[in-house]
Amino acid sequence: MGSNPTSSALKNLSQERYLSLARKYRPKDFEEIFGQEVAVRILQNSISTKRIHHAYIFAGVRGTGKTTAARVFAKALNCEKGPTISPCSKCLNCIQISSGSFIDLIEIDAGSQTSVEDIRAIKEKAIYPPSQGRYKVFIIDEAHMLSNSAFNALLKIFEEPPEFDVFILATTEPHKIPETVSSRAIRIDFRKIPKEKIVERLKIICEQEKIECEDNALDLIAEEGDGSLRDSISILEAIWMFSGDEKITQSAVEKFLGIAPRTSVYELLKSIINQDVKKSYEISQGIIEKGYNIRRVLKDFAEIIKDCVFYLEGIETEREEVKRFISETNMQVEHAMRIYNALIKFEEDLKFSVSDEVAFKMIVFKLCYLNRVKSIKEILEKMSLSQNTQFQEPDKIFSAIIDYLKETGRVLLAEKVSSLKYEVKDSLISFFTDDVKLARAIEDVKKDIEEFLFTTKKVQIKIKVEKENENRADVEKILGDDFVKIERVEEENLW
Ligand SMILES: Nc1ncnc2c1ncn2[C@@H]1O[C@H](COP(=O)(O)OP(=O)(O)OP(=O)(O)O)[C@@H](O)[C@H]1O
Ligand SMILES: [Mg+2]
Ligand SMILES: [Zn+2]
Repeated sequence: MGSNPTSSALKNLSQERYLSLARKYRPKDFEEIFGQEVAVRILQNSISTKRIHHAYIFAGVRGTGKTTAARVFAKALNCEKGPTISPCSKCLNCIQISSGSFIDLIEIDAGSQTSVEDIRAIKEKAIYPPSQGRYKVFIIDEAHMLSNSAFNALLKIFEEPPEFDVFILATTEPHKIPETVSSRAIRIDFRKIPKEKIVERLKIICEQEKIECEDNALDLIAEEGDGSLRDSISILEAIWMFSGDEKITQSAVEKFLGIAPRTSVYELLKSIINQDVKKSYEISQGIIEKGYNIRRVLKDFAEIIKDCVFYLEGIETEREEVKRFISETNMQVEHAMRIYNALIKFEEDLKFSVSDEVAFKMIVFKLCYLNRVKSIKEILEKMSLSQNTQFQEPDKIFSAIIDYLKETGRVLLAEKVSSLKYEVKDSLISFFTDDVKLARAIEDVKKDIEEFLFTTKKVQIKIKVEKENENRADVEKILGDDFVKIERVEEENLW
C-alpha cells in the first residue's frame, strides 16, 4: 500500500522535529562541558575516588551547565561500563539518560512541583532501590522554590539516605536554600563562562550546523550572552533565523541586538580622546536617537580601553582595530587608565541616574574633560625635576589638585581647599582642617585625586586629612605672635 503524501510529510516532520540549538548541543559527557573545570573536576573525583555523596547543590547563574552536568553525572554513575568519569553514551542506560527516559533518573521542577504530595512521591521513590541502574538520581531544578514542608521532607530523607540515592539540587539562588539542607550537601559552584570559552563553543556549533559566521560577530554574541552559554546559543540561533542563508556578519548582529555599530563606538571614543566636545556630543546624540543600547556602548568603551592599555604596556594583541586606534589617536597609557577608572565609576552613576540618556551625555562630557587636568608627570616634566627632587615644589602639586577639583566641577570644594594649610612630605600631602564636613568632602574625593592625578608609575602620592595642628593652640599661647613666624621658617625648611 502506497503511503499518501500527507502522512509521509507528517512523518518526516515529526522525525525531524526541530530541536533548539541549545538542546541539540547539550553536552553528552564531561569533556563537552565548557568553562566549568572546577565543577567537572569535583564530580569526576567524586566518582574516581568512589566518594559519592548523597546530596549536591549545583549553584550558579542561568544557562551555565547545572542541569547538563547533573545529567552527565547521572550517566557517569549509571553507565553500563561505569561508574566512570567518561560515560560511553552508547549503552542503553546512557542513551536513555540522554533522551530523558531513564527510569532511575527523576527530574523534578521545584518551580511547579512543590506540593507536599510531590515530595511524598519523591520520598516513596527514594525508598526503593533502582530498577535498572546502580543509582537513583534525583535532579531538583530551581530547588530554591521548594516549600518549607518540602524542604523538611527532604531533610528526613537526608537524615538516613539509602546508599543508592543521589540528590542534586540545582539552583540560581543558593542563599534561599535552608541552612539545614545546604549543610548536609556538597555545594558546587557554576561560574559565568568566560567569553573565549563561549566563542569556542559557538564556533563548534556553527561548524556542525554549517552556519557561516564572522569571528567578530561571535564575539558580540558571546558578550551579549554575559557568561550564559544557553543565552549565547539562543542569540546565535535567533540571528541565524534572522540572517537566512546569508553569512552572519558583525553588522547583522549589531542590527539584531540594537547595539551601536562598532564604528560609531570607535568614532565617539576617538573624539573623546581628542577632547572634541562638540563632535562627541553629536555622536552621542545620534546613538541616543537611534535607540542603541547605551550601557552596551559604555561596556564596549571599557573593553576597548582595556585592550589599549594592555597593548600600550607591550602585550601583543591580535586586534588590528586596537593598533589602528592607538596610532590614530596617539593615546597615552595614563590617559587610557584615567578613562578606564572613570568608566568603572560611571557604571555606578548609571544606576542612580534618572534616565540613561542624561547620564550617558554627562559621562561623555566628563570623559572629554578628563585629560585637561595635567598629570603630575606632565607637571614634573614641565618643571624638569627629577624623581628625587619632585617634592621640592609642593605648590605646583597643590595647585594641580585645586585645578583638578575645579575642572571636575567641584568649584566650591576647590575654593575651600585652596585656603587650607597643607604639607608635602615623603609622598604624602596632608591638609589641615578642623572643619569636619570639609575633611569628609576631601576624604570623598581623595581616591579620585590619587587615581586621576597621579597615575604615573614613578610618582605615588597619598592624601591625608588631619586635624589642624592639635598642639597649635598650646604652642600659640606660649609663643604668641612669634608662632606664625616660626611656622613659616619651618615651612621654608621643609621644601
Ligand atoms: N558549560 C556548558 N558547556 C556547554 N554547553 C553549555 C554549558 N552550559 C550551558 N550549555 C548549553 O546551554 C544549555 C542549557 O544548559 P543547562 O540547562 O545545563 O543550564 P542550567 O545551568 O541548568 O540553566 P538554568 O539555571 O536556567 O536551569 C545546554 O543544553 C547547552 O547547550
Ligand atoms: Mg537547569
Ligand atoms: Zn554508557
